Amino acid sequence: AYVVTENCIQCKYTDCVDVCPVDCFVEGPNFLAINPDECIDCTLCVAECPAEAIFSEDDVPEDQQEFIELNARLSQIWPAITARKSPLPDADANNGTPGKRELLVE
Ligand code: SF4
Ligand code: F3S
Repeated sequence: AYVVTENCIQCKYTDCVDVCPVDCFVEGPNFLAINPDECIDCTLCVAECPAEAIFSEDDVPEDQQEFIELNARLSQIWPAITARKSPLPDADANNGTPGKRELLVE
């Protein structure tokens, strides 16, 4: 499965949602997650993310391994999102800033 990682936090551009053929994204207040049981590894979402936040689970950076479990867990409790919406305010300013993990709102 593919995995949404830290740089989505406080950005949530949602471009990824529009290209997913199986609608496997879920939405929280300031982050999206992918349901690993539904993702078919099509790879389409990777290039769409302006924050470059989506990785194959085999390629998730070493310091972000916890996001594999986090996507699996959050996808069980958050609602699905199937259409693109506006990014969060200041998404561009928050794109690439370090230390966003602690800002994740569940
Ligand atoms: Fe959806 Fe494809 Fe991305 Fe998986 S890899 S989340 S199926 S767009
Ligand atoms: Fe997040 Fe990138 Fe999608 S910032 S909402 S994973 S387009």
